Amino acid sequence: MAERYELQTQSGKGKMPMVDRTPTGIPGLDEILSGGFPRGRVILLVGGPGTGKTILTSQFLMNGIKTYGENGAFVSLDESKSHYYREMALFGWKFEELEKGKKFAFINASPLRHMPGEVKIGRQAIGRKDFSILSLIEGIKTHTELINAKRVVVDPVTSLIFQYPEMVERRTAILDLVDALVKTGSTCLMTTELRAMGPTVERAIQLEEYLAHGVVILSNAKVGKTYNRVLQVEKMRETPIDMQPRPYKISGNGIEVFPKETIFVD
Ligand SMILES: Nc1ncnc2c1ncn2[C@@H]1O[C@H](COP(=O)(O)OP(=O)(O)OP(=O)(O)O)[C@@H](O)[C@H]1O
Ligand SMILES: [Mg+2]
Repeated sequence: MAERYELQTQSGKGKMPMVDRTPTGIPGLDEILSGGFPRGRVILLVGGPGTGKTILTSQFLMNGIKTYGENGAFVSLDESKSHYYREMALFGWKFEELEKGKKFAFINASPLRHMPGEVKIGRQAIGRKDFSILSLIEGIKTHTELINAKRVVVDPVTSLIFQYPEMVERRTAILDLVDALVKTGSTCLMTTELRAMGPTVERAIQLEEYLAHGVVILSNAKVGKTYNRVLQVEKMRETPIDMQPRPYKISGNGIEVFPKETIFVD
């Protein structure tokens, strides 16, 4: 179900044309995103270990199915299906039932990390790296068509990307993946690990952040003696955004963002 929002320009005087949004349904997050992610785009979720990347992306899929009637696919590069289902059931999210009803697909792409050195397709011998990207793209295409997915998650792309130490190769691999995701026609989230400090400290911008259509960062900010979980939208094409880091919490209901609260960092 498409949601359309009128976007105010920054001065508030003119209005940008209506843009289709994909609401996340995550409390507080749609407010920061002017209604949701731009439909059909590929968004990168960057975060350190345990910051909630898998929970946030799964909540996006669950809300899509339950609230907006949009089927979803989860492509996992680090977890088995049984492990994932068990973890998500702790939040009351029964993906197994939705899979049986053909509303959800789990694509286990973790074996792609353990490919042998060279693979033969027909007569052509291709390297392990190219094969893993090709298989991933093929798997995404087939499964999303089968369930008519409107939302797709790839979690996490870090190990795939790191197979390419050469910048030119890495850029091509990321662009191939982004292209394949765009071709599904779905609104897509890919996750990647944060490889430097949070928003308060200068960090190295990763190549994939330039190539994705939008970037959201999850990190920990030190406020006095305590650490706070903070979410920051770094960029989002076709969307006026709130760029302030905003606190979020993880509980038994999943993620909740507090779009009106400010983090004071010393
Ligand atoms: N019921 C809960 N209440 C509060 N926090 C929780 C609850 N369940 C999980 N968490 C928090 O969520 C974190 C895990 O979230 P998630 O697996 O989505 O993170 P991630 O960013 O995907 O991590 P990784 O880098 O390991 O893949 C845990 O570190 C824990 O702090
Ligand atoms: Mg994870």
